Amino acid sequence: PTPSTLDLDNIQGDVLSGLPKKTQTYFFFQITDVKLFRSQLTQFVPLVKTTAQVLKDRKTIEDHKKKGDKTLIPMSSVNIAFSHKGFAQMGVDDSTLDDTDFQNGQRADAFNLRDNGTGGQNDFVPDWDPAFMQDIHALIFVSGDSHKSVNKKMQQVKDIFGVGSTKTSIKEVKTIVGDVRPGKEAGHEHFGFLDGISNPSVIGFDKNPQPGPKQIQSGALILGHEGDPNLSSRAPWVVDGSFLAFRYLFQNVLEFDNFLRDNPVPLAGLTPEEGSELLGARLVGRWKSGTPIDLAPFKDDPEISKNPHENNDFRFTAEGQFQKICPFAAHVRKTNPRADLEDPPISASLQKRRITRRGVQFGPEVTKEERKAGKTIEGRGLLFACYQTSIEDGFAFLQKSWANEPTFPPGAAPKIPGLDPLIGQGDRKLIGTDPNNPDVELPMPEFVVSRGGEYFFSPSLKGLRETIAM
Ligand code: HEM
Repeated sequence: PTPSTLDLDNIQGDVLSGLPKKTQTYFFFQITDVKLFRSQLTQFVPLVKTTAQVLKDRKTIEDHKKKGDKTLIPMSSVNIAFSHKGFAQMGVDDSTLDDTDFQNGQRADAFNLRDNGTGGQNDFVPDWDPAFMQDIHALIFVSGDSHKSVNKKMQQVKDIFGVGSTKTSIKEVKTIVGDVRPGKEAGHEHFGFLDGISNPSVIGFDKNPQPGPKQIQSGALILGHEGDPNLSSRAPWVVDGSFLAFRYLFQNVLEFDNFLRDNPVPLAGLTPEEGSELLGARLVGRWKSGTPIDLAPFKDDPEISKNPHENNDFRFTAEGQFQKICPFAAHVRKTNPRADLEDPPISASLQKRRITRRGVQFGPEVTKEERKAGKTIEGRGLLFACYQTSIEDGFAFLQKSWANEPTFPPGAAPKIPGLDPLIGQGDRKLIGTDPNNPDVELPMPEFVVSRGGEYFFSPSLKGLRETIAM
């Protein structure tokens, strides 16, 4: 294909469209018998769902819904991604991926990401789930409508690689099951905020872009396309692939709620409950309904969130360079600063900062026991996953140089916005939560705790078939 056309049969389904899911199982593993694995991979590749197939699945789901049928269609989808250690183990030359963070792996990046742990730059030991302290070579994930469909497909995958038999080529490191939250919380992350609203719209793929941030070139997401900063040097097999950053993020929901309760925004006319709700909205930049506070500053208007023509159409310009309406450090302002940096147009230097998020929740709903104790007892959070053409320019940059960086966005100077209140790691405080006293600093406990992750590359179908499988 020419660099501007997208071969939807060659790009894995999760990258551009997101695998349809009510539940998703992540299976992290090591490759123990390279020769056997690469030959078994030939049988596995036909199971990998492509973007074209996902679009078909989505149409099937839409048609089914239109008929008024509320049942879910049994469905499952498989994708695969490899770490640099995985490519090294197989002897696959991944040098044209050319990304230092990917090359070193996430464990080596944990210090710079400011994850919890002990030691300094050179002897850092992150406080991670032991599984992620081991080498992870690859990740297979299966999404679907139900545990039944996903488990069935997962079994089929395991059978191909001989898991449980003497002829296996892989060793499981960890399995994590993620589930969309139940009932009306579906689509909301564990703090209660609607998620998955703002992802970059891609030229040549999204034919009906909604009002919002300018579309990005496909090369800002898919390797080997217009807008890929390393376009000329990519080996053919990496074209149509994308980097996948995975993070195992635990959320302290009770502690988050306590913090909101204890620090209501003292705005005239608001009850303490409304003040707490407003604080939550100001930390995220959106109300729990998903409505951006830039459009509904002091009172939620849930209708905005339901309207795709409106719910992403804001640029933090309503108030110029102030934070009466939205704190500079609010999660969505830190991770996509829109007009705070440049808008329009989005230049090459900025579109490489856009990431496409595909996460899912894990862990149970808050229990009665936890409510009573007022603290987190069960593990729950977000299986964060995002795609980009470079880990260094994408996820890692957003986490290190934006979320963790108190002086970002720079337009706030001489004010210091502080850390992203959800994911910022370091000296956790921010300003701008009180619209009438925007310089007042608010220290925050940790709401999101990273317990591991890895950087992966999601190859094209051709890459899988012709270069990785043997
Ligand atoms: C948007 C929650 C982790 C980057 C959002 C939104 C919510 C949210 C509620 C608004 C909904 C939307 O626009 O789709 C969370 C939670 C996290 C988390 C609870 C951790 C448990 C991360 C991480 C990153 C990130 C680790 C990257 C370093 C983004 C981006 C957006 C976003 C880029 C879209 C901003 C925009 O375009 O307006 N997140 N997030 N998030 N988040 Fe997160």
